[in-house]
Parts: sequence; structure tokens; C-alpha cells
Amino acid sequence: MLSRICLLLCATGAVSGVFQLQPLNAAVLQGSDAHFNATVQGNWGFMTFEFQEMFVLAISESGNVTSTKVQFSARFCSGGDASCVEFTIHNVSRNESGPVICSVLGEKSKTAQLEVQERGTVNITGENVTAIQDQKVEFRCVTSAWYPTPTVTWTWNGQAVDNSLYNTSSMADGDTFNSTSVLKFQAERNTTVECRATVQALTNPQSSSVFLVVVPKPPDWTVLIAVVLSFGGCALLALLIIGIIFCYKRRKEKQTNYRDEISKRVRTQSLAAGQGVYENPGYVSEGEKSVAPSEHTGSGFGQAIGSNIYVVPVYSRQTANGSNNTVDQSGFRKHRHVTIV
Ligand SMILES: *[C@@H]1O[C@H](CO)[C@@H](O)[C@H](O)[C@H]1NC(C)=O
Ligand SMILES: *[C@@H]1O[C@H](CO)[C@@H](O)[C@H](O)[C@H]1NC(C)=O
Ligand SMILES: *[C@@H]1O[C@H](CO)[C@@H](O)[C@H](O)[C@H]1NC(C)=O
Ligand SMILES: *[C@@H]1O[C@H](CO)[C@@H](O)[C@H](O)[C@H]1NC(C)=O
Ligand SMILES: *[C@@H]1O[C@H](CO)[C@@H](O)[C@H](O)[C@H]1NC(C)=O
Ligand SMILES: *[C@@H]1O[C@H](CO)[C@@H](O)[C@H](O)[C@H]1NC(C)=O
Repeated sequence: MLSRICLLLCATGAVSGVFQLQPLNAAVLQGSDAHFNATVQGNWGFMTFEFQEMFVLAISESGNVTSTKVQFSARFCSGGDASCVEFTIHNVSRNESGPVICSVLGEKSKTAQLEVQERGTVNITGENVTAIQDQKVEFRCVTSAWYPTPTVTWTWNGQAVDNSLYNTSSMADGDTFNSTSVLKFQAERNTTVECRATVQALTNPQSSSVFLVVVPKPPDWTVLIAVVLSFGGCALLALLIIGIIFCYKRRKEKQTNYRDEISKRVRTQSLAAGQGVYENPGYVSEGEKSVAPSEHTGSGFGQAIGSNIYVVPVYSRQTANGSNNTVDQSGFRKHRHVTIV
């Protein structure tokens, strides 16, 4: 049973191997030659080739060739071996795409397809690019006059770029195609960016490349400013604290000095001109001066310092006696300064 199936399959294989045409699909660039190989086993007599719906060439098993045009030729593939015939169409043009049919006597004819393709141009628009690190860069590659639409790919330093980073669109321009591919990525390091376009007939892709120069990121000024400001702020705060402590200490010293002085003066005054102090209320209650003492007592200073006995004498002395004016006035100022804080 199994052997019978095998026999059938093997027989089928042998039959198809008797007459073959290769390749069945030929992509050829315009202006170049298209080659087809016909292999036949056993005696075959005559072989004919049909192209664009016309018989264009005949070859005999002995090697005699008859062709309608010089564009078509045929020969044995190697030496005088008649089992393989190479048929050539020279200088193919764009309108010559179509079927190529080969026939031998007593065999079913074989058909291959010829496609004439066109190589166009590839250009990355613009010059070499200089970018700052991490900056988004965009490259545009324009291909024109290709047939069919070329496959566009990109490389970075010779390595293939992931196709999620670029988009290619194409449009017909007469009987050829133009396409534009846009590559976007973040600049990291110096890179040779290459755009490649190819069609099946081309063994090596046509390419265009530019150089991407990546310069380091400039220092981040906002960060720098922030750092400077925070340091400055700290220094300022420290100065302020030192200043406050200093002022506080000085004030305390002055306060004690002032209190001592005042109490001393009060003592001497009450001793020397004791009566004058208490006889002067009339001056105090009169005119503008009458406001000041009440303001003093209103501020609560008298209570804060201690006795308000000396408050009245200082003022009374000022108005009553011109010679003691400066001393008393400075006394008054110090008095006021303390009141504010
Ligand atoms: C081949 O062609 C030549 C002339 O072109 C002819 O003399 C010769 O007989 C032919 N041979 C065969 C086998 O047809
Ligand atoms: C190829 O064919 C084109 C026209 O189809 C012609 O202009 C050109 O001269 C030919 N080239 C060669 C080398 O025969
Ligand atoms: C490609 O196009 C698609 C849809 O238009 C878009 O979502 C994608 O971001 C594009 N990619 C690039 C690299 O431009
Ligand atoms: C195709 O590209 C060529 C050359 O760059 C240009 O002259 C032509 O206008 C383009 N055609 C289309 C349809 O964009
Ligand atoms: C990038 O290229 C430029 C110019 O050729 C060069 O000055 C620079 O040092 C290169 N940078 C790196 C990171 O290689
Ligand atoms: C681009 O850079 C490469 C390598 O540095 C250099 O050889 C080439 O001349 C540059 N091209 C242009 C157009 O500046």
C-alpha cells in the first residue's frame, strides 16, 4: 500500500522534472537582460519561445537558433549539453513586462513572468545635522522615479532602525512612484543615518546618508539658579539670625545701661532740683507737649520699664531747661525705640 503511494509520488516528481522553466518570476531592471533556463530530459527536437504573444525564437536540439530580433537569443547553458537551454531577452524596457512561454514537442508549455523594474533616486533632504543630546531629530528621505514602489529602510551606523520610528508614504508619478519616508528619534550620539531604497531586481540597495553630530546638553540654568538661590537664601537666613541675636544682645546691654543711667539721674535730679520736677505739671498739660507724655504712658512703656516716675521728669526737663535738651532728647528716642519692640 505505502510503496504504491510512494511510487505514484515519485513518478509525479519525475514527470515534472522532465521539462522546467526557471525562474518562474523574473524581476529585471530596465535596460538589463532577462535570462530564463529551460531544462528538458531526453530528446526534445525543437524548442520555441513566445514573448508578448509572438513566437520570437526557435532552437533545435542540435543548437541551431532562429530568432525574429537580435533582442532575443538562446544557447546551451553549458558546453554542448542540450538538456538545458538559456533564453535571453536583451535590454528590456518598461513595457516588456509580461509572460514568457516556452514549448517543446510533446510537452505542456511552461510560462514564466517577466517584470521590468526601475531604479530611481534616493536622497535624504538637507545636510548633516547637529543636534543637542536628547533633542528630537527628524530625517526625510525622498525617493523618486522607482517602479514599483521601493522598499525604504533606515540604518544607524549600519544597524537597521526599528520600523516603528519611521513612516513611509508613496505616490504615483506617471508610471513610476515617488515616496517620502520620515524618521524621528532622540539624538543620543554621533550617528551615520542612511536611507536605503530597493526593489526586487536590485541586488544592492540604493542609498543616501548624512551625519548626525550630537553635542552635549548645555548645563541646566534653572537648576543652577535654584541651587544658587537656595544657598543664598540659607546664607541670608543665617545672617538674619546672627543679626537678630546681635541686636538682642546689644539692646539688652543698652537697656540695663539706660535703666542704670535713668535711675541714677532720677536720683540726682530729685536730690538737686527735686521740687522743679513736681512743680512743672502746668507745662506738660499745655500745647503739643501734652500729647507726648500721654502717648508714652499709653504705650505701656512706663509699666514695662518699671516706675513711671522718671518718664514725667525727662519731659519736664526738656521743656523747662534748654541746656539739658540734647541729653533728654536722646533719652526720649531710646525710650521710643524700646516701645516699638
Ligand atoms: C542548422 O542550420 C544550418 C544553416 O543555418 C543548416 O545548414 C543545418 O542543416 C542546420 N542543422 C540542423 C540540425 O537543423
Ligand atoms: C536599449 O533599449 C532602448 C530602447 O528600448 C534603446 O534606447 C537603447 O539604446 C538600448 N540599449 C542598448 C544597449 O541596446
Ligand atoms: C506614523 O504614522 C502613524 C499614523 O499616521 C503615527 O501614529 C505614527 O506616530 C507615525 N510615526 C512616525 C515615526 O512618524
Ligand atoms: C516625483 O519626484 C520628482 C523628482 O523629485 C518630482 O519632479 C515630481 O514632481 C514628483 N511627483 C510627485 C507626484 O510628487
Ligand atoms: C561627534 O562628532 C564631532 C564632529 O565630528 C566630534 O567633535 C565629537 O567629539 C563627536 N562626539 C562624540 C561623542 O563622539
Ligand atoms: C557630512 O559629514 C561627513 C562626515 O563627517 C562628511 O564626510 C561630509 O562631507 C558631510 N557632508 C556635508 C554635506 O556636510
